[in-house]
Amino acid sequence: MDLILVLKKILFLVNLNLICKRVHGNISSQTSCAGILPADLLEESIPKYGFLPNGVSVLYDTNSHAHAYKFSRNNIDLQFPVSKVFKNCLYFPDEFSIFFVIKHEPLYDKKECILHIGQDNTTLVSIQLSRKYIVLTYNNRKVQYRNFALKDKKWHSVGFSVSASDITMTTDCVNKRRKRLKRKWPSNLPLKNATFQIASCAPARGVTLGHIKDLIFIPGADAAVRACPPKTPQHRHLDNRLPAVPDVYRIGSPGPRWDDCTWTDVGDIAYDLHAKSLKVCVNGIWQHVTVNIEAPTNAPELPRRLDYIDYYQDIRTPGPSIDVELFTIDGEGTFAVFASSRPRKSKKDISIVYKWRKKKFVFYQRLNTDAAQCWKFFAIDNNFFLAVANYGKDSRVQGNSTIFKWHKRRKRFKEFQIIPTWTARDFEHFVMNDKHYLAVANHAKGSSQMVDSGIYIWSTKLRRFKLFQNIMTTGAYDWTYFSVNGYHFLAAAQAFDGFSTLTDSRIYVLQDKQFVLFQTMETNGATDLEYFQIGDSVFLAVANAYNYGPQNIDKKQEYLTNSTIYKLDKGRRVFKTFQTIETFSAVDWEFVTIGDEHFLIVSNAQNRALEGDHLTSIYKWRGVEKFVRVHQMDVLPNTDWEVFTDKRDVYFVYSNAKGKTSQVLKAVFTPS
Ligand SMILES: *[C@@H]1O[C@H](CO)[C@@H](O)[C@H](O)[C@H]1NC(C)=O
Ligand SMILES: *[C@@H]1O[C@H](CO)[C@@H](O)[C@H](O)[C@H]1NC(C)=O
Ligand SMILES: *[C@@H]1O[C@H](CO)[C@@H](O)[C@H](O)[C@H]1NC(C)=O
Ligand SMILES: *[C@@H]1O[C@H](CO)[C@@H](O)[C@H](O)[C@H]1NC(C)=O
Ligand SMILES: *[C@@H]1O[C@H](CO)[C@@H](O)[C@H](O)[C@H]1NC(C)=O
Repeated sequence: MDLILVLKKILFLVNLNLICKRVHGNISSQTSCAGILPADLLEESIPKYGFLPNGVSVLYDTNSHAHAYKFSRNNIDLQFPVSKVFKNCLYFPDEFSIFFVIKHEPLYDKKECILHIGQDNTTLVSIQLSRKYIVLTYNNRKVQYRNFALKDKKWHSVGFSVSASDITMTTDCVNKRRKRLKRKWPSNLPLKNATFQIASCAPARGVTLGHIKDLIFIPGADAAVRACPPKTPQHRHLDNRLPAVPDVYRIGSPGPRWDDCTWTDVGDIAYDLHAKSLKVCVNGIWQHVTVNIEAPTNAPELPRRLDYIDYYQDIRTPGPSIDVELFTIDGEGTFAVFASSRPRKSKKDISIVYKWRKKKFVFYQRLNTDAAQCWKFFAIDNNFFLAVANYGKDSRVQGNSTIFKWHKRRKRFKEFQIIPTWTARDFEHFVMNDKHYLAVANHAKGSSQMVDSGIYIWSTKLRRFKLFQNIMTTGAYDWTYFSVNGYHFLAAAQAFDGFSTLTDSRIYVLQDKQFVLFQTMETNGATDLEYFQIGDSVFLAVANAYNYGPQNIDKKQEYLTNSTIYKLDKGRRVFKTFQTIETFSAVDWEFVTIGDEHFLIVSNAQNRALEGDHLTSIYKWRGVEKFVRVHQMDVLPNTDWEVFTDKRDVYFVYSNAKGKTSQVLKAVFTPS
């Protein structure tokens, strides 16, 4: 029947990532087996026509045209070589998921086997069941989960996702349980002559009791996240007048009905507002559909998946650089400007603008700076500006920070306006109600960390910035503007109060044409705030860089701190701790979305040839698992990360905190 055909097509067209192997820094091409597709192992092992193998019987549901298999206790020998699924692979994929849908009917308290992948006497991966436990074995290491889900002898789906350092078991797309997986990374488990053995761990041993409906192998660790609907988040809004938006619309019927997908349900389609994609119910599991089922050959492009990041270009700067700003001028192209500090023995302090030409950054223009800390690019009407926050030479003397303006005919930046500052660390540009603002973060004035930081407003009459409001800051490092539901926020990262780095950072909200205090939060040497949204969740990540003061009298591991990601509780109108991540001299968080995936990059400004946990890291958003580290990069000490695209290519630029070589890196995608 047509319906079954549809089902089969969907199974194979599931849009899941095809990651076979991730390596930090290096990748060896002959070991990575690209292009593994999701495979239904039951389909592969049981012939569709003719006689069923010994010990296998079929259960057929006439209403839904779905079928399931039952395995008897004897003579089961369903196996086939892994090469049928893993083409051109030397090693077992490091990240993968396995799904099955089962009605379990245990007879004895005995271990039964759902799947075994390996050679005769070695187990790469196996899944076993008993009355008490569900056990996944990986490279002869057992990870046990208490078997709560399958006890009632009803239909259930079970998914395992194996990622870098953990295994997540998801039952019925509802309960997720994560456990640590101790292993070398990458694991490089040789495939040799391994086989898939279905429903037993060796011929005629440990047969599964009950019915199995699907047994699907999927490359990529986040299959459970992608195949399952998101948990319904609470919808409270800052503005309580807004109605709550349900996450899911079942097509043709009202209201969210994520639980209405059981083993016999095939082809029900729902729109997942959270993931912004269509999902179809396939035997108890909601699967993404991004392809045209009628005409698969005309399928639109699948979202791309970041595999790893590779070295691309060195950029020589006049001195160590603390910040890089990327910008595009209409009709001119893409530029990068680095905030560089004075080279030793050189009188002139300059920063350099580079232009992206023929896929490389090349020298474009010198700009006079004075211990530059930060560059900000912005456009007002049809004019382009670059503002630099200058730290200056002496904290006791008022310094000058400069706004440059793009000269259209000469195609160069020219000095435009001077803003008096005190050891300025940062400029933030933002627009509220069509008016342009520029906020400066002044760090200290003489020996005091307490100093007014000015917020300036663009006067269309004077065609200049003029003072709008002063806010007293304490060791300020960064301003971040963001807007939620029509409210305007300005948040200051404050690093030091003259005594301790353990001090408050502050969030202000605009009320009656003034910024007033909204919330304070305790931070530890905070140097950067990163605002981002995922779906309708609002986050603020703080980079805590340094631990100095009475709380660390022994001056132990001063760069090792917990950096915090806060999430806005829209009902209570307060940012609450969402996740803390141990960081090492973190001075920048950069939020990046590539394809339909979200990442946070955290810098490491003190890369002292450290290994493991102290490397510059990339965390990937994994829904209820929060941010999970997926890459660690052995790059130079870095203070700032930016991302840009050129047609289909995605590049990363970082500034080198300690040397004259900053770098461009390039994203490599998994083949699809
Ligand atoms: C990358 O490969 C080079 C040369 O093969 C090797 O020297 C280096 O140690 C490798 N780096 C990592 C992080 O594996
Ligand atoms: C597997 O192990 C069993 C005993 O544990 C042994 O009898 C058998 O020969 C081994 N098979 C292979 C292929 O090594
Ligand atoms: C794999 O199988 C081939 C042919 O069946 C055999 O020649 C070879 O020795 C086997 N290799 C291993 C490592 O078992
Ligand atoms: C700032 O600029 C003013 C003139 O615009 C100048 O008098 C002053 O010396 C400058 N300050 C510094 C620290 O360069
Ligand atoms: C970070 O927080 C965790 C959990 O609260 C704690 O175990 C760890 O010691 C903290 N690390 C630092 C450097 O404060």
